[in-house]
Amino acid sequence: MKAEENFYKRQAQTTPFPIGLEGTHAKGSYIYDTSGKKYLDMVAGIAVSNLGHGNKNVNRAIKNQVDKHLHTMVYGEFIQSAPAEFAANLTGILPKPIDAVYFVNSGAEAVEAALKLAKRCTGRSQIISFKKSYHGSTHGALSVSGNELKKRPFRPLLPDVHFIEHNVGADLNHITTKTAAVIIEPVQGDAGVRIASKSYLKALRERCNETGTKLIFDEIQSGMGRTGKWFAMNHSEVIPDYVTLGKATFGGMPGGALAAPKNELDAFTHNPMLGHITTFGGHPVVCAAGNAALEEMKRTVNFEEVEAKGEYLATALKHEKVLEIRQIGLMLAVDLSSANEVQKVFDYCLKNGVIIFWFLSNPHSFRLAPPLNIEQKDLEKAVKVMREAFNILP
Ligand SMILES: Cc1ncc(COP(=O)(O)O)c(C=O)c1O
Repeated sequence: MKAEENFYKRQAQTTPFPIGLEGTHAKGSYIYDTSGKKYLDMVAGIAVSNLGHGNKNVNRAIKNQVDKHLHTMVYGEFIQSAPAEFAANLTGILPKPIDAVYFVNSGAEAVEAALKLAKRCTGRSQIISFKKSYHGSTHGALSVSGNELKKRPFRPLLPDVHFIEHNVGADLNHITTKTAAVIIEPVQGDAGVRIASKSYLKALRERCNETGTKLIFDEIQSGMGRTGKWFAMNHSEVIPDYVTLGKATFGGMPGGALAAPKNELDAFTHNPMLGHITTFGGHPVVCAAGNAALEEMKRTVNFEEVEAKGEYLATALKHEKVLEIRQIGLMLAVDLSSANEVQKVFDYCLKNGVIIFWFLSNPHSFRLAPPLNIEQKDLEKAVKVMREAFNILP
């Protein structure tokens, strides 16, 4: 009771109606509440817990690092084995010439760093982003996010930011020699899983090459196996200039990273020196967790199975009440007729022990992003409950 009271009275809220589920522990694909009721987690904390909850090896790595040391110095000054090792391991799964990372504390901060690096390296200020995109809630990240409703009260935001349609080739001519960077989610997450085609991404890459514009792929949500490959970019042959990472990258711990060629990241070291700084970025415990999660992913996650599980969900959820399902790997959007229907399905699922969730910029859909190692029997259980929910819709 105490936690509940403090949550509502002493913790700032993000909506007037938080879910308010009080978890006591979580294991695999399940979260347990104070009454002992278990909930099947079909969203993984919004694409974070890709290995499920309570992974033994990730937990052990965290505990080992806690016993060695916590924070000893601000980012970039001391050599610490956990971030150094993780940087090497993480760049090992990224395409060349992306060969280094700058660790920060969240996805939004990775986006901030990417925008700054693009401006610093091109000497330009214009940024092009996409309608309905989501890149975070800080001023810079919000400036390049597409949802006008969420931005209006916080203006003025960054100047010289322009929005084009995702996956529409005709709009690419808005990218010019004035454009410092284009920031794109190759699979838009909060827009409701909108997948850019290979040919579009190729044309985008070519336009950025022609104009000397930095191409930033925001893989904060789509990265680390979520789409059935390490990164959404791996579905095409397109290699961006910079990649932003967060969410699942740190094994359930809070973090973010800007991945880019080392010679470009070096721009932060001069003119001005300390061009981008952070106290806690690359925290050793966070990086130890990330490294263990990455090793565990390599060892245990089969990407073909991730895609097969996603396809199973997309097929099994077809129903007369479902207008459309968009799916890539285990990243899914299920379109219903209205936000009201989504709420009804959410309520039914929660009552029956299945957690689904909304999208920021797509109110008539709900999202599914379960742990990548979720078992088939749990997927079937979730499908059963969701179909029962569709059946009660008027
Ligand atoms: C594509 C994308 N970019 C950036 C962010 C922001 O990350 P964070 O919430 O860690 O700041 C998110 C979070 O949902 C995201 O989905």
